[in-house]
Formats: sequence, structure tokens, C-alpha cells
Amino acid sequence: MTRILGIETSCDETSASVLRGEGDDVTLESLVILSQDVHRIFGGVVPEIASRQHLTAIVPVVKRALEDAGVRLGEVDAVAVTHAPGLVGALLVGVSFAKALAYGRGIPCVGVHHMEGHLFATALEHRDAVPPFTALLVSGGHTLLMDVEAWGRYRMLGRTRDDAAGEAFDKVAKLIGLPYPGGPHVERLAATGDASRFRFARPMLRRNQQPGDADYYDVSFSGLKTAVLYAVRAGSPDDYPHIARGFHDALVETLVEKTARAVERYGRERVVLGGGVAGNRTLAAAMQWRLKRAGATVYAPSARFATDNAAMIARAGLYHFEQGERAPLDLNAFASLPIPGLVSA
Ligand code: KG4
Ligand code: ZN
Repeated sequence: MTRILGIETSCDETSASVLRGEGDDVTLESLVILSQDVHRIFGGVVPEIASRQHLTAIVPVVKRALEDAGVRLGEVDAVAVTHAPGLVGALLVGVSFAKALAYGRGIPCVGVHHMEGHLFATALEHRDAVPPFTALLVSGGHTLLMDVEAWGRYRMLGRTRDDAAGEAFDKVAKLIGLPYPGGPHVERLAATGDASRFRFARPMLRRNQQPGDADYYDVSFSGLKTAVLYAVRAGSPDDYPHIARGFHDALVETLVEKTARAVERYGRERVVLGGGVAGNRTLAAAMQWRLKRAGATVYAPSARFATDNAAMIARAGLYHFEQGERAPLDLNAFASLPIPGLVSA
């Protein structure tokens, strides 16, 4: 049994979590997530402000996570921290703190890739959301379609060519005057819209695509965003719910079909969704409905585990800790870094 303290500061959430377990048998002892509301004023994350807020929040957030778990620092066996990808200044706060804490206590530190964390998040709520599975990670900065043979063995199938799914939600929200982060607002507005009013082209989705084609699994959302921009300019605010619906349907159908292709190609019986956009109930329901035909079960995280949190970092960190990995003292933060454990497609 290992008890691990997870720390996440890659974007605008300061989060800490205590988790205890072995292999896939884990117990979440605490999870504290402090979301930085200040960015709403600016309509997006301001990196410098994010770093400063992490600095003031990190100590109380970690203390609170330990208190909630009812453990002392001396009872923690290792520290796991997100070291990439993300905002470098924000990541550095978590990385420096984790290294200092680990060094001070004489315990190991493990560096975790943020997107690998999202892969593990759903397993914290659904015990069956473990490999082998098809994974769709949809966040504010990334859109990745992967085949996960086992933890630590990831076959990258597709990604976005331009905007990430969450980014598309946020930009569309801005166009129709909804607050940041826009995903949940667009989802709610779209639910009130008429699907037949605006039909936008499904990006990179053509019937005659073949598995060998470069765009078979890839997605692209910038054209869709532009189509929304033109519709907004030509229409009136009365049209916004219908425009939101048209956008939502196009994006969801694209993600569902690309995921279905991966499920069918690799014959997986499980699909795991992760990242902030995975908290979208309409996406999860559409995915479940479509993949039932392929005989697969879809596992989606609740909003708490879909968005950035340190429990998923502790969980992925536990895996790497058990593999014997230990971060050197010069562990650094990186704005971008390939996910570890990539196997060729
Ligand atoms: O994973 P995440 O918390 O942070 C990143 O690592 O990027 O994802 C944040 C993104 C934002 O773009 C937000 O608008 C989107 O997830 N999001 C949603 C929903 N909830 C959050 N998008 C669509 N529908 C939602 N319900
Ligand atoms: Zn994330």
C-alpha cells in the first residue's frame, strides 16, 4: 500500500489530493480543488495571474488535503506532481513545491504528464474504466484519441489539427456573449435550441475516409468556429440558442464518430472519456447511444473528475511510482511534452 500526495497547478486550478492503494485498487482519501475565478473578468486564463494565485494557494490547499484525509505529512510515502504540459509559470509553482516537500521529508517525487492524469481520472469513479480501452481526451488545450492497451502503453490515433474541443466551446461562448469557461453555458443554451435551424458541416467527417487516411481519426474545429461566427453576424440574439445547438451537434457527432472508428478498429469493449469537455452530459449520452451498437460501454467522469484535479495526478503518479520511477531533483516544467508510453500506431 502506498499513500501518495498529488499536486496539480498546470492551469487555473490549484489542487491537492491524498490517495492510497495498490495497482487499480485505490481509495481516494481527499481532494481539494481551488478554481481561480479571477480569470472570468478577462474572458480567459491570464498566465501571470494564474502563477501568482497558485503561489498564495498552494500551502493552504495542500494542508487542507492532508487534514481532510486525516493524515500527517509523515504518513505520506511519495509526492506526485504535474510537470507538463501547461502554463510554465503555473506548473513551476507545483513542481518547485513538490520537489521541496519531497526533499525536505526524504520521500520520492514523481513527475506526471497532465494528459496521462486525465486518462486515469475516470477510473477513480468507475472501477471498470481500466485498460484495455479507447480513450477520448477532450480538454481546453487538447483533443486526443488514443487506444490504451495497458496503463503506460498508449497508441496515439488522432488529435485536433487546430483548436481543442474545449477551446472551441470557449470561443463560441465568447461569440454569443456567454461567460468563461464557456463549455457548460453553451451546453445549457444548446439544449434549448432547435436542431433543424442551423446545420454546420461536420469537420473532417466524410463517409469515404479510410483507416489509412491522415484525417481518419483527426479532428479540426476552427472551420466550425468560423461558421458559427458568420451565423452570429448574420443573425440576431434570438438565434443564439439555435446556433449553439447547431455547433454542439456538429462537434458531438464528430467526436462520437471518430471514437466509434477507433473502437471498431481495435475491438475495444470500453470507452473512457476524460478532460473538461468529458463533463458534457450530452456528449457522454450520444457516445453511449452510438457505441452500444459496437458493443462497447462508455465511462464518463463527473464534472469534478473531468476538470483539472490532483486526484488523477496522484492516481497516475501511483502507477509510475509502482513502476519504480523517481523524479530527479532537477525535474522541470514544460509547456508541451509528448505523453509518456507512446507505442507506434
Ligand atoms: O481539462 P480542463 O479542466 O482543463 C484543461 O486541461 O484544459 O478543461 C477545461 C475545458 C474548458 O474549455 C471548458 O469550457 C470545457 O473544458 N468544459 C466543457 C464543459 N465543462 C467544461 N465543455 C463542454 N461542455 C461542458 N459541460
Ligand atoms: Zn486538463
